[in-house]
Amino acid sequence: MSIFLDCIQKKKINRPPIWLMRQAGRYLSEYRETRKQAGSFLDLCYNSDLATEVTLQPIEKFGFDAAILFADILLILDALGVKVEFIEGVGPKIEPVRKLEDINNLLNVENIHEKLGPVYKTITMLKSSLPKNVPLIGFAGAPWTLSTYLINGRGEAGSITTKKFLLSNPAEFEKIINILTEATIEYLLMQIKHGADVIKIFDSWAGALNADMVLNYSLKPIKRIVETIKEKYPNIPFIVFPRAVNTTYSYFSNIKEFDVLAIDQFLDRDWVAREIQPKKIIQGNLDPIFLTLEKDVLLMELKKVINSFKKHPFIFNLGHGITPDAKVDNVKSMVEYIKEIDFR
Ligand code: CP3
Repeated sequence: MSIFLDCIQKKKINRPPIWLMRQAGRYLSEYRETRKQAGSFLDLCYNSDLATEVTLQPIEKFGFDAAILFADILLILDALGVKVEFIEGVGPKIEPVRKLEDINNLLNVENIHEKLGPVYKTITMLKSSLPKNVPLIGFAGAPWTLSTYLINGRGEAGSITTKKFLLSNPAEFEKIINILTEATIEYLLMQIKHGADVIKIFDSWAGALNADMVLNYSLKPIKRIVETIKEKYPNIPFIVFPRAVNTTYSYFSNIKEFDVLAIDQFLDRDWVAREIQPKKIIQGNLDPIFLTLEKDVLLMELKKVINSFKKHPFIFNLGHGITPDAKVDNVKSMVEYIKEIDFR
């Protein structure tokens, strides 16, 4: 019924399923229009009608094989009681939380569902409006990535502030990671309860960690989240995206509860085909820059991705989110190309 779920469940498929990270976003004029109507980015995330509308836009326009809930990984910080803003043209801005006192007073796991109610409602609405063969991906940020925003207040190259914090304030850091892990479990359980078919966990800043830290602060909390949720929902597939963790991807491929590993554009594809694909279904890894270039340049790269990964089933996607300057015609050509593949 769904080529995306068939791929994850290792059933036979004749072409890779395709969807794109940030497929609902600023490269689409329809999105920019709805976004204007909503007011701020957060208003859009919490408006179930409009969030449903923007989730559906790329499905209707391109025929992707999966939809991803329109929301943001930082909503959970907002729901925990932290001040979160999205500054036009700059990005997220969070009031940093670092002191034990603030951690204890500010972060309140029990109350998150009240604020996140509209997100659950969006999921319900999407489940009744999506075509039956298009599953819905729910998602959350990994505790490490959320902690970088919580502790530093914004994204930072190398996450230096948060790394220094974790090494200098281990008790506070551990408390923060535990709260974020608990809150994420609660949040994802509710997304599944409302109808999310697959869950993706984004650890976008995992690449800032050294290898030991990747295991302790990226892999370990993600594993706890997935294991806890699978006790209740053993059949919900998880896509895990530890971005830019280099060869420590191997450790992620050894975790049986992770169903799919999303692969960034920095990894050597031959290494992935050799070391990771025999153990895990992968998703990725076209560099999003190719969607901003000429069609023939894009198609050349696209063929390289397919040739590298085609010995095993894989989900076609980008190595990171699509950028606002991506060309809509390129996305169309790419989906057409993928849908015409026939491995038989
Ligand atoms: O289509 C989809 O992918 C679903 C919705 C989605 C968004 N953000 C919408 C969004 C998802 C899954 C995310 C995840 C997310 N958000 C991540 C993890 C993935 C990644 O990109 O690494 C991160 C780190 C964030 C935090 C975040 N949100 C940042 C750093 C920014 C600003 C940078 C930017 O790209 O503008 C956002 C804003 C954001 N989230 C936009 C969208 C469509 C653009 C906001 C706008 O309309 O102005």
